[in-house]
Amino acid sequence: MHIIAPSILAANFLKLEEDLDMINRSEAEYLHVDVMDGVFVPNISFGQNIVKFISSKCNKTIDVHLMIVNPEKYIESFQEVGAEIITAHVEATNHAHRLIGQIKETGAKAGLALNPHTPINVLENVLEELDQVVLMSVNPGFGGQKFIYQTLSKIEALNEAKIKRNLNFNIEIDGGVGLQNAEKILQCGANVLVAGSSVFKSENPLETVSKLQSIGKNHVAKF
Ligand code: DX5
Ligand code: ZN
Repeated sequence: MHIIAPSILAANFLKLEEDLDMINRSEAEYLHVDVMDGVFVPNISFGQNIVKFISSKCNKTIDVHLMIVNPEKYIESFQEVGAEIITAHVEATNHAHRLIGQIKETGAKAGLALNPHTPINVLENVLEELDQVVLMSVNPGFGGQKFIYQTLSKIEALNEAKIKRNLNFNIEIDGGVGLQNAEKILQCGANVLVAGSSVFKSENPLETVSKLQSIGKNHVAKF
């Protein structure tokens, strides 16, 4: 069964508590939390203080996506404010293997994210160590962008490697995911869908999460 991870970046920050309450009542299993530093990506979101507030009010798994340079400086502090999965960008470190170890050492699950231009084979020698791979399906920095369709073949190739090597990491897809393309993304082998605008900007966010979660359920096997 796949996992829905609404992205809090698309919430109304004046009503953050209400939006978190909605997430708590939803069928989502994760809450995706985007941290941007204005250097690794051309936008600034929020830091540890806000993540602390979010995690104190949210009963879902806190899935922190660090879009920052020097991620190794901040791993412990994000775990301390409630991050349960910590994903850093492979493009932001020269020492991916060490970084994975550092994340796990805190007790959090370890993820690496790849920008759209980064081939999946950079992960070849660390796949065994990872709990999650995040494939960016937009250029990171902003919510509400269009899904880059070349991501689909990356998902398929990564899933093939996962099956071949009998591994168990999450394949999380981040950016431009919604009801229009979720089924296809899941069919390619993803098991975690990040959904920002498609959830928070929809008329009925609870229902949208539920619909995203139900994809694939009603499929009757054809003989
Ligand atoms: C983009 C972020 C995404 C973003 C997704 O840089 O990493 O997690 O919140 O937003 P949508 O779903 O609106 O594309
Ligand atoms: Zn993200």
